Formats: sequence, C-alpha cells, structure tokens
Amino acid sequence: MVKIIIQKKINDFNKVISVDGDKSLSIRSLLIGSQSYGICKIKNLPRSEDILSTINGLRKLGVKIFFKNKICYLNGNGLNGFNYQKNIVIDAGNSGTFARLLLGLLVKSPYAVKIIGDKSLSRRDFRRIIDPLEKFGAKFVSKNIKNLPLKIIGSEYLKPINYFEKKGSAQCKSSIIFAALNTPGKTIVTAKKSRNHTELFLKNLNLPLKVINKKRYDKIEVIGGSQFKSFDYIIPGDISSSAFFIVLTLLSKNSKLRIKNVNINSSRTGFIKIINKMGAKVKFVNKRNICGEPVADICVKSQKNLKSINCPVELNSNAIDEFLIIFLLATKACGVSKFKKLEELNKKESPRLKLASLILRKIGVKVKSGKDSIKICGNPKLNISKKILINHYHKDHRIFMTSVIAAMTLGGIWTIHDMESYKSSFPSFFNILRKIGYRF
Ligand code: S3P
Repeated sequence: MVKIIIQKKINDFNKVISVDGDKSLSIRSLLIGSQSYGICKIKNLPRSEDILSTINGLRKLGVKIFFKNKICYLNGNGLNGFNYQKNIVIDAGNSGTFARLLLGLLVKSPYAVKIIGDKSLSRRDFRRIIDPLEKFGAKFVSKNIKNLPLKIIGSEYLKPINYFEKKGSAQCKSSIIFAALNTPGKTIVTAKKSRNHTELFLKNLNLPLKVINKKRYDKIEVIGGSQFKSFDYIIPGDISSSAFFIVLTLLSKNSKLRIKNVNINSSRTGFIKIINKMGAKVKFVNKRNICGEPVADICVKSQKNLKSINCPVELNSNAIDEFLIIFLLATKACGVSKFKKLEELNKKESPRLKLASLILRKIGVKVKSGKDSIKICGNPKLNISKKILINHYHKDHRIFMTSVIAAMTLGGIWTIHDMESYKSSFPSFFNILRKIGYRF
C-alpha cells in the first residue's frame, strides 16, 4: 500500500498534452482482432493494467501478440479460433470490460474456461451477461451464479437470440454482439442507449451488422458466422482520462489546456455536454474521423463562474465514467446540483455514488444523497485547509485520480492511499501532471 501526500495547489499553466489511448477501444481492438484472420497492427495501445490483463488473457487463449517500435501486432486465428489447454484460468484483474466481453467470445469454447478477477471485480454483477449468454446455449458454473470466479462451457449448437438490454450497459450489449458473431443466424439486441464503439468497429470492418436508432433504444441486428480479415487500427485518446485534466483546468486560475487526438464519439461526450451546461466553454477543434470513430483536439480554459446543474438523466449513460469528476466540479458551482437515476454508478469498480457522498462530506461539502441520487451544494469560494484522508475506496482508479485533482484545486493536506490504483486505466497520469508543471 503506497500512499501519496498532496499539500499544494497546481500553478497556472498553458500546455498541450496527449492522454493514453481509450480503454474501451483498446480492449475492443484486441478482442475483435483475436477473431480476425491475419496480423492486426494496433497503434497507440496504452500499457495500462486493464490492457495488460487483456493481452495476457488472449495470449493464454493462444493468440500471438507482440510489440515492435511501440506498435502492437496481433495474430488472429479467425472466429472461435482460440487454441488453449483444458482447465485454463484467465485473470481479468480489475477489468470488467475485458471479462464481460471475452465471455461473449467464449460461447462456443470447446473446454471450460475459468475467469477470475481481483477483489473489486469479484464483487461485480455477472448475472447481467450470464442471462443472455445462456440463452445462446453457453453454460456457466459459479458459486452464486452472479460473481467471479466463474467457468464458461461453450456449446457447439448455439442459437441466435432476441434480447432486450435494459440497463444501458455497453459491456452487456457488446458481450451479446460478440456471442452473435460466433452464432449462425440473426441475433437481435434491443439495447438502452450506451457507448456504441462495438457497433462502429464492426461496421467499419464491413461485417453484417445493422443498427436502427430509436429515441431511447438502439436495435442491433447481427448475422453471425462471417469470417473477417485482420485490420490496422489507431487508438484515439481517452475522453474519460481527459476529463480529469479538463476539470483541473476549469478549477485552476488563468490556465489553458489543449488535449490532442481525443475520441469524441457522441455516446461518450455526455461529460462535455454536462460541464458546458455548467458554464465551461470546452471546444472541439480539428475534428476528423479515424478508423470509423470521431476524433478532435479538446480546448479548455479556467472558468470562474460555474453554475449548478439539474443533470438530464438521458446524459447519464454517456457520462457514466465521469460522474466523480463532475461531482468535484459541482462543489465549486454556484447553487445546488442534482443528479438522479444513477444506480449503475454503485456497480462500478467501487460503489461510486455512496463513496462520493462520504468523501464530499469529509471535505466539508453539503450533500444530500438517496439510493440512486445525489444533491451537491456548491460553493464557488470553497477552499480547504484541513487534513483529508482518502482510504478504503476499493482501489478504484477514478476515485484515486479525482482525489488528486481535488487536492490540487481545493487545497488542504491530502493523504491518498493505494496510489498504484491509477495504473489500471491511466498510466501516464502523473507524467502529464509533471508536464503541466506540478512538482511532487
Ligand atoms: C465500458 C462500459 C461501461 C463503462 C466501462 C467501460 C465499455 O460499463 O463504465 O468503464 O467499454 O463497454 P457498463 O457497460 O457496465 O455501463
């Protein structure tokens, strides 16, 4: 357990930075690549722990992956082309995305594959993907049919399904789409809106996938069984990682930041819409399309007059990974900010909604919290001078990084435990802080 102590605010800055590659797209490129035929070339793959778990897991399943001049080469063996020993165990570490999406690709696995994870992943809900994958014909063995560790046993006789995904979980939707790739016939998934990277990725490879957009749901039809060729892919910067630096800039004095090459897929930019409603003036410049995904540079300046927000629930899913840092911004906004229908936030790497109210109260912010809602009384003059201890937060990377940004903008003397947690999604976090002038 390594802790960090932060006791000074960041000085003014005016910088151009790049953040690590997007986690969702990195995991998808590796998993989809593993099902293609031939050698995929993936640029800008981050070396975060979630991505290393994905690479190690795929290697155990017989996929050859190597790096040359910082480029990742992956040798795909086609659909259901995994090649592995009986009784293998895949350690997904902290990565829910890897574990859940991989299970979708294993619905036809000839032998049982056991998936394990760290303490945080082992308390997360897997029933949400077991249900649809069982309908395809896969079988599962686990102590309580809900959590890791669990074993999946695939089936030779898969049947396509018609499924309604009501949680707005992109991991669930993608796991079903991955299972559908291996299943002859037409699978239909009607899914509450969530990030659509899997659909864009497969469409970009010209796979037989049709998306019909409705107001609150998307209907996705996949015809399974089509082999496809390997591809080249460039991972854009992660908007969820950018969010920490955007809020750092907004809450610092006289500062300016440009973040280069960030993915701005509209199913991920709920955070920008929310903070712009709060008075931030975040701009996208140099917009372009890379490998089927929209990318831009993000420009942001310090902002003194932030307004509170009554956050529209339809933006929840598009900002799901950014709520902690949005709550931090709300502490400095004028008025009471209200967020509701956030039950999914308690099902992440830690129960984030619960922990957010605890931490905000600890630093002296007035908070009213419900089962799935939170009201935050903002104070533009908020300035902390006491000692703050952040521990017992399930090593949640986003709680760690939000706490660091809070310490650098609100003041006080912060001791934050389990420092290594940031590495699960954003290994360059501290290097970038140094680059913009913070001296540790
Ligand atoms: C992800 C989907 C989201 C998100 C996670 C990444 C993905 O999870 O929180 O960090 O890549 O599909 P849910 O599908 O559980 O909402």
